[in-house]
Amino acid sequence: MFERIKEIKQELEKIKIENEKHLEEFRIKFISRKSVVGELMGGIREIAQEQRKAFGQEVNELKNLAQAKFKEAISELENKNSTGSTDYTDLTLPNIPHQLGTIHPLTQVREKIVTIFQRIGFNVADGPEVEDDWHNFSALNFPPNHPAREMQDTFFISKDPDILLRTHTSNVQIRLMEKQEPPIRSIMPGRVFRNEAISARAHCIFHQVEGLYINENVSFADLKNTLYYFAREMFGKNTKIRLRPSFFPFTEPSAELDISCFICDQKGCKVCKHTGWVEIGGCGMVDPNVLESSNIDSEKYTGFAFGMGIERITMLKYKIDDIRLFFENDVRFLRQFQSLS
Ligand code: DAH
Repeated sequence: MFERIKEIKQELEKIKIENEKHLEEFRIKFISRKSVVGELMGGIREIAQEQRKAFGQEVNELKNLAQAKFKEAISELENKNSTGSTDYTDLTLPNIPHQLGTIHPLTQVREKIVTIFQRIGFNVADGPEVEDDWHNFSALNFPPNHPAREMQDTFFISKDPDILLRTHTSNVQIRLMEKQEPPIRSIMPGRVFRNEAISARAHCIFHQVEGLYINENVSFADLKNTLYYFAREMFGKNTKIRLRPSFFPFTEPSAELDISCFICDQKGCKVCKHTGWVEIGGCGMVDPNVLESSNIDSEKYTGFAFGMGIERITMLKYKIDDIRLFFENDVRFLRQFQSLS
């Protein structure tokens, strides 16, 4: 029996208690009433009288050893658990930075356009997106059967009276001239709507910026210089402009405004379709009919006007090849414009 005590003692010393399962196994084997230690206690009757005292002492020693090891294991496991627990806070850790939002690229470009024109004395004007036929078409000298008035191009809200979503920002020219005496020198950024199939190049909602300067002796040279100044401020000092004869009902003469392609430096690329020039808007001298329909004396005053696409300018400036990206609100796209100025 004494041999047996020795064996159990050796076994006990070797055991490693590393988790709750080991602990329970240890408890059953060495601590519980049915444990090997308990068994030894029960066996005391089989021991000769004169050896009983010594046997009892040794079994007791073994029991104490088992209990000490059990207690120690409990406290070790508790410590281990508490260091791994999630409510432990390391106050020395750096803070998790907040994600900053970004200004939409179209807003950034609109603000830049506004700043460029404000520097040469233009103020900013605003007009309605839901408009009547007069301000969107008739006062701008569109003849009654002009194709732009067709349902295919225009979103009509009602017929008779014709109420529609403005197809361009030129309506604000009329609203300004109705309420303000010349000189007028304003730019008018805003949202416009056209009944177009959505594709990489076209959208049914987009943005324009309109410009209007009415005063005595305003000439085509003033228009050209203003646009040249704008193009260089917007796209870089080496930018050139080209005015191509065109037609708009509200200007005479009219022109399309091209800038030199800065993507290929006019060597020819996909964006400029190998012409070296890209179009960014239309312009011209305000047609006397337009001045007259807003009660401005066309004998005394002349003026120029222009209109440019903000998406178009943004796409060129940042080499974006799909207009739909502006309206999808995909943060992976928008975050790329975090640090632009
Ligand atoms: N409204 C024209 C368009 O949407 C752009 C335009 C052309 C505006 C010539 C003007 C202008 O003010 O003079 O296509």
